[in-house]
Amino acid sequence: MQFSTRLPAVLEDNALARALAARRAAGLPVLDLTVSDPTRVGLDYPYADIAAALAAGAGAAHAPHPRGRPEARAGIAGYYAENHGARVDAERVHLTASTSEGYGFLFKLLGDSGAEILAPQPSYPLIEHLATLDGWRARPYPLAVDPAGRWRVDLDALARAITPATRAIAMVHPHNPTGVFATPDEACALAELCAARGLALVADEVFLDYTTPDSAPRAGTLAAGDGPALTFTLSGLSKTCGMPQLKLGWIHTGGPRELVAAAQARLDFIADAYLSVATPVQAAAGKLFAVGAGVRAQIAARVEANAAALAANAPAGFSVAKRAGGWQALVRGPAAPDEEALARRLVEHAGVLAHPGYFYDFAESGWLVLSLLPEPAIFGAGLAALREWLPKLV
Ligand SMILES: Cc1ncc(COP(=O)(O)O)c(C=O)c1O
Repeated sequence: MQFSTRLPAVLEDNALARALAARRAAGLPVLDLTVSDPTRVGLDYPYADIAAALAAGAGAAHAPHPRGRPEARAGIAGYYAENHGARVDAERVHLTASTSEGYGFLFKLLGDSGAEILAPQPSYPLIEHLATLDGWRARPYPLAVDPAGRWRVDLDALARAITPATRAIAMVHPHNPTGVFATPDEACALAELCAARGLALVADEVFLDYTTPDSAPRAGTLAAGDGPALTFTLSGLSKTCGMPQLKLGWIHTGGPRELVAAAQARLDFIADAYLSVATPVQAAAGKLFAVGAGVRAQIAARVEANAAALAANAPAGFSVAKRAGGWQALVRGPAAPDEEALARRLVEHAGVLAHPGYFYDFAESGWLVLSLLPEPAIFGAGLAALREWLPKLV
C-alpha cells in the first residue's frame, strides 16, 4: 500500500513528546508554558450565552451558500468596523471552518503541485505543513532583528527568495511568535512587491486584536481598502473570540477589482465543494462576536499580566524580547548546542514544558518561546522552575 508523499515520512513522537508522555504517565505534574488553547486556561467562559447563540441556529434550514450565510458575513464586517475601524464588504468574505482551512482553499486557488509560498522565518510551523498537504512548498524568507530590537522583514532577502514557482507571500500580522506587527511601510512594500511579481499576498491576522503599547507604527488590517496586489486576509473565531472549538474562520479577498472577482468566483467553486461550516455557528456569528468581546478582554488581560510577571522574573542570563502583540513571549539565553535535549531536560527535571526555538525555526539557538496564556499560578510556578533549572541545564 502506498500513501501520499505529502505526508511526513516519520509520524512517531519526538524525544520531547516522549519525555512529556512519560512524565504524565508517572503521575508527575507538568507546568505547561506552551498552551495555546484559551478554553483550557481557567478563563470565565460565558458558555450559557454561547450555547444560547448556537441553539438559536440549530433549527435553521440548511441553505448552503459558497460564501456562507449573509448574516455571518455581516457579523464579520461588523467585527472589523467595531474593533479595527475598517469598512469591509461582506460580499468579499468566504467563511471557512478555520484559518488553517482558509490556507488550504488558497493553495487550491492559487497554484498546482510544486507551487511555492514564501513564509517568514522564524515562524509558527503551520504554513509549511498546510502547504505540503496541498502539494505546495513553503520556502522561508528571513525576519531579522533591527537595532531597536524589533523583528523586521528583510525585504531584499524576500525579493531574492522569489522563484518562478512562487505564487504567494505570507505575512503574519502580528507575527507568531515574535509578536511584531508589519509597519505601514512594510505592508505597502509587500503589496507592491506582490503586485509587481504577479503574486498573491496572504495576510494571517489571527492575533490582530491582541496588542500591547509599543511605539512602533503598525499597519491596520489588510482587509481594509484595496491595495495593488490580490490580497487575502485570514482570521477566525479561534483567536478573535477565543473560541477554537466553534470552528469558524474566514477569508477576505481584496485588491484590484478584476482580480478580486476572478479569485472570488474560483473560491466560490472551492468552498461549494466542501461547504464545511456548520449552520448553527454561521447563524450565531453575530452574537458570538458580541459574547466573544468579553473572552477577548480576558485573554488580553491574562497575556499582559503574564508578560509583566515574565519581565519582572526573567531567568538569570536570559533576556525577554520586545513584543507588540500576540499571545507569546520570546526569551533569549545562551546558545544551546542541542535545544531538543534542553527542552526534554526541562520536562524531566523541572517539570516545565517550553518550546525551544528550533520548533519555530529560529536561525540561531538560544531562544525559548513561552505562551502567555497559562493561569497565573501555573505561569509563576513555571517561571520559578525555569529560573532554578535553566542555569543548571544550559
Ligand atoms: C499564526 C497562526 N495562524 C493560524 C493559526 C490557526 O488558526 P485556526 O485555529 O483558525 O485554524 C494559528 C494557530 O495557532 C496561528 O498561530
